[in-house]
Amino acid sequence: MKTILITGSTSGIGKALVYHLMDDQFDLILVGRNQLLLDELEKFVKKEVPKRRIFTYVMDFGKLEDVYQVSNVIKKNHPQIDYLYHNAGAVPQTKNAWTKDGHLEALQINYLSMLLMNEILLENVLNSSEKTILHTTSMSASKKFYMDEISMMSQYGRIKIYGISKLFSRLYFHHLATIHNDLKIKLINPGIVFTNQIRHMIPKPLRFLEGGVRLFIKDPNQVAGHIKSIIKKNQEVPIELYKGNKIEKHAKINLDQDLQKEVMMYSMDLLKGYSL
Ligand SMILES: NC(=O)c1ccc[n+]([C@@H]2O[C@H](COP(=O)([O-])OP(=O)(O)OC[C@H]3O[C@@H](n4cnc5c(N)ncnc54)[C@H](OP(=O)(O)O)[C@@H]3O)[C@@H](O)[C@H]2O)c1
Repeated sequence: MKTILITGSTSGIGKALVYHLMDDQFDLILVGRNQLLLDELEKFVKKEVPKRRIFTYVMDFGKLEDVYQVSNVIKKNHPQIDYLYHNAGAVPQTKNAWTKDGHLEALQINYLSMLLMNEILLENVLNSSEKTILHTTSMSASKKFYMDEISMMSQYGRIKIYGISKLFSRLYFHHLATIHNDLKIKLINPGIVFTNQIRHMIPKPLRFLEGGVRLFIKDPNQVAGHIKSIIKKNQEVPIELYKGNKIEKHAKINLDQDLQKEVMMYSMDLLKGYSL
């Protein structure tokens, strides 16, 4: 039995992955922000596979204190996590949205909360035999970024900040891979997938076109099938980037070492109130 923790498990790619893993030998730790959706999912899994061990935790990435507290509970309850899958993410519904922690919502939900959670649970992953961290990245993470843009970020559109957050996540994982070369880090670019994230980007008056859009872009089930095979793939280098179920050979990742260091210093400063 291996243990997998999945964030953003209650809809889209995360939920489809839970369905795909139900018939597999995994203890499931499911993280979501909505208790009702988590309860429904837990009930469904227990009905389909009564012997599967399943644990659920409510965590809102929009509240850093919540992420800190719940991650520490998970850390205590599950000393070994074989696969830690950072999948939760969102493009905010409105431009210039801020969290109560005082951060741009897109930055906190797609990066800062994930970083805080990963720093807390890293020890549990390192305690396991698989030592695998996965993350749903995006093609928008390939953009160029200069550190002096930080002060201008609040003027950027929500999709641009989302892309920068996904870039920061990638830089963080590359940084992590240089420190822990026994880790296996799998970054997954799913392409464009028909989930709530895409649905919410279609302006309301055009929602009637949804059915047509759905025909041209990927289905979360198809992507989850790929992710299931990626989870099991052997890995020879500490970090790999997948597109579909194949390694992306010519991935344009901004791997500038100086930028990596600067982003890490900036991020750790934002989280300095938390003992890590
Ligand atoms: N769809 C695409 O085309 C696409 C492309 C590239 C990358 N991605 C990435 O793929 C990942 C999964 O997204 P998806 O496409 O499956 O969209 P989705 O259906 O909207 O799923 C996003 C998941 O993140 C959770 N989430 C959102 N805000 C949260 C918060 N504040 N706290 C905790 N959890 C939160 C959602 O919870 P609820 O279930 O409660 O809503 C949901 O489970 C995301 O990281 C996304 O950026 C998607």
